[in-house]
Amino acid sequence: MTSRAMPPGDDRIRPTSVTPLTLTLNDVPVTGTAGQTIAGVILGSGELAWRTTSAAGKPRGIFCGIGVCFDCIVTVNGERDVRACQRRASDGDTIETQHDELPEVE
Ligand code: FES
Repeated sequence: MTSRAMPPGDDRIRPTSVTPLTLTLNDVPVTGTAGQTIAGVILGSGELAWRTTSAAGKPRGIFCGIGVCFDCIVTVNGERDVRACQRRASDGDTIETQHDELPEVE
């Protein structure tokens, strides 16, 4: 998959060259550029949802984009419950999607 990042020549804010990076999302390589959040890289690959809710298995991805809703959580390099919209992507990151069943009530 390839990121849909803006070409540096079209970026009026930071017209510098981009540094590519690759992470894996559930063992599939995904490319992005240094400075993007993990959510930005995933969205750039075309994925809109990467988590499912515990109660009904509904798809979730970015909702607030500012670290409030926790809809975007993923496991990053073995660390669970990372908000993808708040973590900057690093080359070689291993991202796994999460789905946790609700615990049984006794
Ligand atoms: S999208 Fe809401 S916390 Fe990441």
